[in-house]
Amino acid sequence: MLDFLGNLERTHLCGELRAADAGKQVVLMGWVNRRRDHGNLIFLDLRDRSGIAQVVLDHDLTPEGHAKGEHVRPEYVVAAVGKVRLRAKDAVNPKMETGEIEIEATELRVLNDTRLAPFSPAEEAIANEETRLKYRYIDLRRAEMQRNFWLRHEITRAVRESLSAQGFLEIETPILNKSTPEGARDFLVPSRTNPGQFYALPQSPQIFKQILMISGFDRYFQIARCFRDEDLRADRQLEFTQVDLEMSFPRQEHVFAVVEQFLKAAFAAAGVDLPTPFPKITYDESMRQYGTDKPDLRLPGLTDVRSAFTDEQLAALQIDPALPVVALRIPNVGELSRKEREDNHPLFDTKKGAKFIDDFKRLAKGFPESAIKVRELTGVSDADFVIIVAGDPAHPVKASDTKFEGRLSEREINVYAAAGNFRSELAKKYAERHGAFGVTETCVATAAPKSGKLLDGSKAFQPIWIVDFPMFEYEAASAKWVPAHHPFTAPHEHDMPNLVNDPASVRANCYDLAMNGLELGSGSIRIHRKDVQQLIFQSLGISEEEARQRFGFFLDALEYGTPPHGGIALGLDRIVMLLAGAPSLREVIAFPKTAKALDLMAEAPTAVTEQQLKELHIRVALKN
Ligand code: AMO
Repeated sequence: MLDFLGNLERTHLCGELRAADAGKQVVLMGWVNRRRDHGNLIFLDLRDRSGIAQVVLDHDLTPEGHAKGEHVRPEYVVAAVGKVRLRAKDAVNPKMETGEIEIEATELRVLNDTRLAPFSPAEEAIANEETRLKYRYIDLRRAEMQRNFWLRHEITRAVRESLSAQGFLEIETPILNKSTPEGARDFLVPSRTNPGQFYALPQSPQIFKQILMISGFDRYFQIARCFRDEDLRADRQLEFTQVDLEMSFPRQEHVFAVVEQFLKAAFAAAGVDLPTPFPKITYDESMRQYGTDKPDLRLPGLTDVRSAFTDEQLAALQIDPALPVVALRIPNVGELSRKEREDNHPLFDTKKGAKFIDDFKRLAKGFPESAIKVRELTGVSDADFVIIVAGDPAHPVKASDTKFEGRLSEREINVYAAAGNFRSELAKKYAERHGAFGVTETCVATAAPKSGKLLDGSKAFQPIWIVDFPMFEYEAASAKWVPAHHPFTAPHEHDMPNLVNDPASVRANCYDLAMNGLELGSGSIRIHRKDVQQLIFQSLGISEEEARQRFGFFLDALEYGTPPHGGIALGLDRIVMLLAGAPSLREVIAFPKTAKALDLMAEAPTAVTEQQLKELHIRVALKN
C-alpha cells in the first residue's frame, strides 16, 4: 500500500546534512539506495541528487515506519520524517559526506515502489552498455552520471558567462535549414507544405553566424546543437553540441584569446587551472613532431633519427632513404618479450607505406653505432620502449606522391602519420597497463558535485593550437585540388597570388585546438570579399552555377558590406568528456545514440504510418 505525499514538504537534501545539523527536525525524500535489516532496527540509505543520508527506523520509536521499512526495497521512493542525530563514534562512516550523522525517523511514507530494475544504480560494477542505455533513466541515477551532468552544467554556465562578459551575444539559428558545408552527410526533413522539398538539419551554424556578422552583431555565440549523419566513434555523436562563436574584424590572435579565456573559466569551474596562452605550432611541425594534427603533448614526441643511419645501413634494413626515419618512445614500459611485442603489431597501420622496427636488441647487434645514436637522439632510458618507423621502399610511388616545394609530401606525411598513430595506440594500451605517461591518473573526477571542486587540480590537460594548415588537399582519384576545410575559409593574405597557379603552396588562415590527443575545436578567418570567394570556388572547381545553387543566398549577402570576420567552434561534449575523465561522449550526453545510430531507450528511429508518409509526399522503397 503506497502513501500519499499529503502536505509533507521536503526540508533538506540528503547529501547536505552535517554534524552541525544535529538536533534539527527534517523531512528527506528520495530513493532507497540500500536497506539493511537488523531486526529491531532497519537502516535505509536514502539517496537524492546531492548524496546519501542514513535513515534509522527503530521499532520502538516508530512501529508503523519500521513495519513499512520491512517491505521497502532498493529504488523505492520514500519520504522520511525525523531528527538528525550524531552517530555513535564507532558508527561514523568517514567515506560518506554525511557519515557523522543519521536520521532518527519518526515516520516513513512510501511514495512509490518499483519493478525489479535490471541493475542497481548503487552498484559499482555496472551492467553492459546496451542495458544501461535501454534503461537510461536508471543509469543516470548513478553517482558518476549525476556528477558528469553537474560538471556539464557548470562548464556550460562558465562558458556562457565568460563569453557574455567578453561582449558576445547569444543568438539562436535555425534547426530547419539548408544544407551546410561541413562535409558530413545531412539529416533531411521532408517539407509537408512544399512537396518533394527537404530541409537539412544544421551540421553547424556556419553560414548563419557569418550572416550575423554581415548584420552587424559584431560578436555572436551559441551553445549550438549540430547534426551530422556520420559513422559514430567514442568521440563522435550524430547530435552534438558546439560552443560556436564568430567575431568581426578579428585577427587569429583575437579568436585565440577569446577561446583561451572561456576555456580557462570552464576548466576553473571543474577545479582545473589551465595556464594561458596555449602553445601554437604549424600543421607541418605537428606532423613532424607528433605524426598527427591533434597531438597529445603528455607523451614524448617523435624524434628524427635519420642521421643515425648511413644510406647503406638503410638499404640493408630495407628502409626508403628518401623518407623520414623517426623514433617513438614509450616511457616506463620495461622490457617487452617478443610475444608482447608481436601483440602490438596489429596496432600498426601498414597500409600507408610505412614499416617499423621494434626489436632494439637486434638492431643493436647488427648496427651498434646506429643504435647508440638512436639512444642519444631520443634520450631513451632503459625502461623505455623504442620503435623506429620509416618508409617502406616496397610501397609504390603514386602520381599523387608529388613533392611540393616547402611542404611535406603525401608519402612523408604517411610515414609520420603511421608513427603518430602507433604512438597513440601504444600509449593508450600501456597507459592502462602500466600507468605510463601519467595518462590514467590525470583524468579522474574525484570529489562530489556539491564540493565545488570537481577534479584534481592537475596540470595534465595540454592544449595546443595548430595553425597554417594547407588550404587544399590533392585528391588522387579526381586529380583535383579539394578544400581541406569548408569553402569559406580564407587563404593567408600572402599566399593569395598563388591560388590558381600553385594551390599546393597556399596556407589556410584556419586553426584547430587540440587537447590530449583530441580535436577540441576548429575555426578560421573567413573570406569576406566576393572576388576572393569566387576565386576559391574557381580553384576548387565549383562552378558558378553550383555555388549559386548551394550558397546563393550567402553569396548575395557577401555583396552587401561584409566586414572581415572569423570564428571557431569547440565541441562542448568533448570538453566535458575530457574533464569528466570519461572514455566516451555517451557518458556526458544524457540520451546518446549507440554506434549503430540507435536510441535504445526511445527505440528511435522507427517506421512511421502510411498516413504520415502520404502527408509528406514520400514513398518508402526498401530493397529486400
Ligand atoms: P568542425 O566541423 O571542425 O567545425 O567542428 C567543430 C568541433 O565540433 C566537434 N565535433 C563533434 N563532436 C561530437 N560529435 C561529432 N560528430 C562532432 N563533429 C565535430 C569537434 C570539432 O572540433 N563550422 C565549423 C567551425 C568554424 O569554422 O567556426 C565547424 O563546425 O570538437
